[in-house]
Amino acid sequence: MDLMEAIKGRRSIRKYKPDPVPDEALQVVMEAVKWAPSWANTQCWKVIVVKDLKIKSDVAGALPKGNPALSSIKEAPILLILCGMKGISGFYKGQQSTEKGDWLMFDIGLAMQNLCLAAHTLGLGTVVIGMFDHKKTEEILGIPQNVEVVAMTPLGYPTSNGPAPRRKEISEFVFYEKYKT
Ligand SMILES: Cc1cc2nc3c(=O)[nH]c(=O)nc-3n(C[C@H](O)[C@H](O)[C@H](O)COP(=O)(O)O)c2cc1C
Repeated sequence: MDLMEAIKGRRSIRKYKPDPVPDEALQVVMEAVKWAPSWANTQCWKVIVVKDLKIKSDVAGALPKGNPALSSIKEAPILLILCGMKGISGFYKGQQSTEKGDWLMFDIGLAMQNLCLAAHTLGLGTVVIGMFDHKKTEEILGIPQNVEVVAMTPLGYPTSNGPAPRRKEISEFVFYEKYKT
């Protein structure tokens, strides 16, 4: 699968088969995280691999009932929680390098996209989940003070691949030379 095919073909998957994910596939997915770009190569990510049914169920309890990805957490054999170490990305000698503060969210986003694309090339499904009670999840997973949970995704074999939600036309978001209002 070439890169554009993977980028365009990846979908958010919310229905999973119970089939296990081979360890080798999980390793490839983690390798994709490993090679994500990050602020000054700081690699602030931490990934928690959850297979335990009780922990998955507890984490599912941190999602609001209306989150369409709720059932996928229990269905998929693996739940991956992406966390970031605070005060590293976007900092130099402990000082913020830009007015944007901590770049943790950005770096974890890049890692997540690498993860999702690598999974897709292996026939595995993912869905980025950002709408949940982060504090509650951090308590469940025993996250230390200097780390925060950013997002999570189930990992498993999709039952089906839905249609792609419509994208904006390139002309709607690309400007040349200066921003046009
Ligand atoms: C930062 C972020 C947070 C998201 N949070 C959720 C979520 O909480 N629940 C959910 O079902 N989908 C979530 N999504 C998935 C988006 O709804 C999905 O990517 C978007 O509709 C485009 O569909 P596609 O991924 O199939 O291209 C999230 C995506 C991103 C990037």
